[in-house]
Amino acid sequence: MDLKRDYPKLLTMQKQSYQINFPGSELEEIWFRSALEMAKYDGSVTIYESGQALVGWLWLTDVSDEALHIRHIQVNQAYWGRGIGRWLVEQAIAAAREMHKQAVTLNVTKSNLRAMALYHRMGFRTDHDYGERLAMRLELPIEPNTG
Ligand SMILES: CC(C)(COP(=O)(O)OP(=O)(O)OC[C@H]1O[C@@H](n2cnc3c(N)ncnc32)[C@H](O)[C@@H]1OP(=O)(O)O)[C@@H](O)C(=O)NCCC(=O)NCCS
Repeated sequence: MDLKRDYPKLLTMQKQSYQINFPGSELEEIWFRSALEMAKYDGSVTIYESGQALVGWLWLTDVSDEALHIRHIQVNQAYWGRGIGRWLVEQAIAAAREMHKQAVTLNVTKSNLRAMALYHRMGFRTDHDYGERLAMRLELPIEPNTG
């Protein structure tokens, strides 16, 4: 991510995501920008583009020795339903495996049916129920050592 270049597009995307996941709440732009500035210290933000269009983005945080956390995952609405969300989650799983993590975690709003369907299909299970939101977790089985 090039924050200077990508920030306006990310902000537009994040505002849309807020309407879905936190209806009635306003995104605090100062918080969002500073969180993105800090992202490189404990994780990564990756942007996926097609020409000039931002197709999707993935924000990963290295929260603990054993788990990699999907802090944010989003596909541009024009590209929904083509399997890109699933592909982004697969990128997170691949990154977690490379880092030798045992699990991938995320938080989701229950009313976000699209995201809920995606995570359930991919094997995520509820780790904690916060009411309107869930903490979910995908265990990563240890792969056999072929070396
Ligand atoms: C959640 C999100 C990333 C999914 O992206 P996507 O590219 O549409 O995902 P996919 O095409 O891989 O489809 C995901 C799943 O949605 C489900 N789905 C498709 N259409 C649906 C619909 N109309 N209603 C509910 N679920 C639907 C399917 O189960 C599909 O899984 P499958 O491919 O195994 O059948 C995307 O909707 C998004 O960016 N939302 C806004 C940001 C957001 O809420 N992020 C999640 C924060 S936790």
